[in-house]
Amino acid sequence: MELHERILELAVSRSFFFPANEPYGTTGGFYDYGPVGVLIKRKIENLWRRRFIYENGFHEMESAIVTPEQVLVASGHVASFADPVVDCKMCKARIRADTLVEKEVKGWKWDGKVESITSAIKEHGVKCPGCKTGGDGALGKAYMFNLMFKTAIGGDHSSAYCRPETAQGIFTAFPRIFRNHGAKLPLAVGQVGKSFRNEISPRKGLVRMREFTQMELEYFFNPGKQGIEGFETVAGKELRMQVDGKTSEMSVRNISEQGIAANEIMAYFLALEWNFYIACGVDQKRMYFRVLGKTEVPHYSKGNIDLEVETSYGIVETIGNAYRTDFDLSQHAKTSGQDLSVFVEEEKKKLIPHVFEASMGVDRMFFCILEHCFREKEAPKSKTEDPKPGAAKDWEWFDFPPAIAPYDVAVFPLMKKDGLAEKAEEITAKLRSTLGAFYQESGSIGRRYARADEIGIPYALTIDYDTLKDETVTIRYRNDGKQERIKINELEGLIRKNIEAGRVRLE
Ligand code: GAP
Repeated sequence: MELHERILELAVSRSFFFPANEPYGTTGGFYDYGPVGVLIKRKIENLWRRRFIYENGFHEMESAIVTPEQVLVASGHVASFADPVVDCKMCKARIRADTLVEKEVKGWKWDGKVESITSAIKEHGVKCPGCKTGGDGALGKAYMFNLMFKTAIGGDHSSAYCRPETAQGIFTAFPRIFRNHGAKLPLAVGQVGKSFRNEISPRKGLVRMREFTQMELEYFFNPGKQGIEGFETVAGKELRMQVDGKTSEMSVRNISEQGIAANEIMAYFLALEWNFYIACGVDQKRMYFRVLGKTEVPHYSKGNIDLEVETSYGIVETIGNAYRTDFDLSQHAKTSGQDLSVFVEEEKKKLIPHVFEASMGVDRMFFCILEHCFREKEAPKSKTEDPKPGAAKDWEWFDFPPAIAPYDVAVFPLMKKDGLAEKAEEITAKLRSTLGAFYQESGSIGRRYARADEIGIPYALTIDYDTLKDETVTIRYRNDGKQERIKINELEGLIRKNIEAGRVRLE
């Protein structure tokens, strides 16, 4: 079984995530986060807020999802946010055309022209794969299919779309946020929210979805000033960079000075992203930044760098960094007829700010974390430590950094009787005022440890007969099953301190 199949199985059975609307059969590309997964997802999002927004003194917003057509005409999405598709003349299935031909015709690569796909289909006799009619699977002409979900607003049925990226809402809100918040550049605005893309063939679980969450940051700056405050704090940091297919370690300073990144601003955010990914549990040996080649960079961009992560599906792009220049604001100014330039006091002139964008998908990152944090080995033999006494040999757990574990701590009374459950409930209630505590009183203690390990809780407390005598509990560590005694009145402070330090054993 491939790792991603195993992860999907575990995700469904442990309430990380599962297909949406299950009783009605599943619709590809839509997933629900369950009670465990949603805790992790929120922690990832909140850590992003802390590291990218609050620690830099930036702003956060929440823009509307349903977006009037004009906005997305201006941004270019109505005209060109599309993938090539082809319909089967027999079973009417709509198929992603470039990937179909690439799969069927060895060595064929799409040149970006839809006509080339139609020619290749004819020339090589490409047919509908798995045509359900039993017919010959003849395909029609390839055409471009817009990936946005269309809707109509209210009584006048004016056209609108579910946003395909959270960024456009930030661009259209920029003039107001600029006026209301100091009227000075640089100014950065981020948001966490859903984006929608009607992917032809959503695949690979959380990797290609139709509804997904993005964490996007738009950094508006004076194009004459491409430096950033705080750069020196990260300048010496080494990152893995892939340039023209070659991967090497480079300092953030060199990435900026050698023009690998479009400017110092982009290099600064690469360092933040690198640190953020490590803090969330992605293995730094299995990730790198790839500098996109000239033909891959969108027409409005002066440079793109993606973060790519190795998974059992292959390489997955999880972050897109782009120097979007003044493209979006200029387009919105033109289309709306509004002046979106800002007055720069020091230079006594008006200009349209340039934008650096860091765009991350939460779901892809979540999937990478699950794969990279998954651990399994033979269960320890001792009765109290064996997480699955008498059950499967394997001991499996998620080695999440404590900062993103679904719960900070698990609390288990050794027995339900003799006042142990009451004492455990009392301790849980206290801890819950500042920590996420998982409580369970039924089942063998080994099974309860196993349940906590399976969802990646770093520490488990056992309340036993000694607790009633000396106000101490046993703390057991997820990663090695080791145990020690801790005083109840020190628990909360110790756990909080160690979560902050990212330690899986209390110090
Ligand atoms: N505003 C720029 C933008 O949206 P993108 O490269 O299209 O750029 C950024 O998307 C990130 O959003 C990706 O790196 C990925 O993490 C996530 N993403 C994009 N499409 C996705 C999909 N269909 N399913 C899951 N995540 C997706």
